[in-house]
Amino acid sequence: MATPIGPQRLVLRLRMHRHPVTFPPMSKTATLTNLQLRGLAGRFVVLDGSEGCGKSTQAKLLGERLAGAGAVPLVVRDPGTTRIGEQIRAILLNPEHQEMGMRCEMLLYMAARAQMMKQIIQPAMDAGKVVICDRFISSTLAYQLGGDGLTAAEITRIGDVAIAGRWPDLTVILDMPVEHSHARIRREKDRIEQRSVEYFESVRRNYLDQAGMFPERYRVIFAGRTAEKVHEDVWMTVMEVIGERSSVDGNR
Ligand code: TMP
Repeated sequence: MATPIGPQRLVLRLRMHRHPVTFPPMSKTATLTNLQLRGLAGRFVVLDGSEGCGKSTQAKLLGERLAGAGAVPLVVRDPGTTRIGEQIRAILLNPEHQEMGMRCEMLLYMAARAQMMKQIIQPAMDAGKVVICDRFISSTLAYQLGGDGLTAAEITRIGDVAIAGRWPDLTVILDMPVEHSHARIRREKDRIEQRSVEYFESVRRNYLDQAGMFPERYRVIFAGRTAEKVHEDVWMTVMEVIGERSSVDGNR
C-alpha cells in the first residue's frame, strides 16, 4: 500500500501540473465542417470519473484532436487551474487535514470552481474556445453526496451559485470497476484517495446514477480499454452530442 504523501511533497506534485493547457494550431488532420466548428465554439465539456480512470489523458487527447480539427480547445482541471484554486486544492488534498468535514470539503471545491468559472472558463467560452474540464460538479455529486447528510439538491443549489448557472453542455463519465481503476494509481495517495473501497464503490454508483438521471447531457464510456480506443468513443460522443445541439441551436 502506498505511504501517505507529506504536505511539502504534495504541494510539489500539485505544482507539477500546468493548467490551463492550450494547444497551438496544428496541421489539420480531420477538418470539421464550419457548422461543426461553430457548434463547438463556446461549449463546455467535462470528463469525469474515479481516480485512475484516465480522465487527464483523455482530456489531453481530446484537446489535441480538436486543435488538429481546427477548433480552439482549452483544458482545465477542477479543483485548480487558477492561483486561488490550486491553493484550495492543496488544502483539500493534504492528508494532514483529517478533521475536515464533508460540508467544508464541498464548499471548498465549490469555491475553487467559482474562481475558475469567473477567471478562466467563462472568458474562454466567450472567446469561442471549447473548454474541456477534468472533473466538475459531477465529482462533488459523486464524492461528497451523503457525507454529513449532504443531499443532491443542496450540492446542486450551491453549485448553481458557484458557477453562476453555467452548467456543462456535456459530461462524459469514464467508468470502470473500482479495483481496476485503483490498481492504476502508482503514486502516493492524497487525502481523498486514502478512503475505503466501499467509499469508491459508492462514488462509482453516484456517477452512474447522475448519468441515468440526465441522459440528455451525460454519457458513460467504458474506460477499461486502451487510451486510443477510449479516445475514439470520447471523440464520437463529443461530436454526436454537441453536433446535435449545434444544429438544434441553429444560428448560435
Ligand atoms: P484529481 O486528482 O483527479 O484532480 O482529483 C482530486 C481529488 O479530489 C480526487 O480524489 C477527487 C476529489 N474530488 C472530490 O472529492 N470532489 C470534487 O468535487 C472534485 C472536483 C474532486
